[in-house]
Amino acid sequence: MPAINFPPLPDLKLDAQNAKLLKLIIAIDGHSSCGKSTLAKGMAKALHYAYLDTGAMYRAVTLYFLNNGIDYDNPAAVEEALPHIDIHFERIDGQNHTFLNGKDVEREIREMRVSEHVSPVSAISAVRRAMVSQQKALGGRRGIVADGRDIGTVVFPDADLKIFLTADVDVRTSRRHLELAAKGIDADWDEIRQNLEARDHIDSNRADSPLRRADDAVVIDNTLLSEEQQLEKALELVPRIA
Ligand code: DC
Repeated sequence: MPAINFPPLPDLKLDAQNAKLLKLIIAIDGHSSCGKSTLAKGMAKALHYAYLDTGAMYRAVTLYFLNNGIDYDNPAAVEEALPHIDIHFERIDGQNHTFLNGKDVEREIREMRVSEHVSPVSAISAVRRAMVSQQKALGGRRGIVADGRDIGTVVFPDADLKIFLTADVDVRTSRRHLELAAKGIDADWDEIRQNLEARDHIDSNRADSPLRRADDAVVIDNTLLSEEQQLEKALELVPRIA
């Protein structure tokens, strides 16, 4: 068969309107509670993309270990448990809900009990292997905004746009405190701050895929930005990746 020579593509201007046709992969990484999920949800909505909350997956695994008395320091117990963990997401009233073995655990996975154990659990290579392979499969559909700690470096190293978010730790603590209060979860400000710092430390220093900025990621420090301003800034980056 003769080769078909397609004419060169017209100079396509990529904006929020036609991004939905191009089905890009957008990766957002950064420190704990710096607004990654707010930004990812905002971008997904604006671009009509799916949103993948990878932190929720590590939180659901942690909840399973806690509820089933699995000693996650024991590699054999972890290997034994992993095949029994099924995680999926559903949209309920326009919100993303995380399901663990058929049960809606969206609220439970945000509690401090889970936050206190999620970083050591997500440092376990067997856990990461299991989650990353599911995340890569979901990304195969493209048209996705994913947030986490290793999205631009490991899960989607070829993402079309990579953003690394950061913000001052006191500002992050206050935002987290408000977010938990809005969900009716009462938590102490100092306890939240300590938890954020401890998680940042473990997440950035673990041996397997530590949190780091991908070389080609754009840094956004949102300490002084409102949700709307950070969304606007991030969407401005979309046309540059055509
Ligand atoms: O985004 P989050 O705070 O819900 O994430 C919870 C924890 O999960 C975080 O402290 C580190 C871990 N995590 C990870 O190791 N890799 C990801 N891609 C996402 C989260």
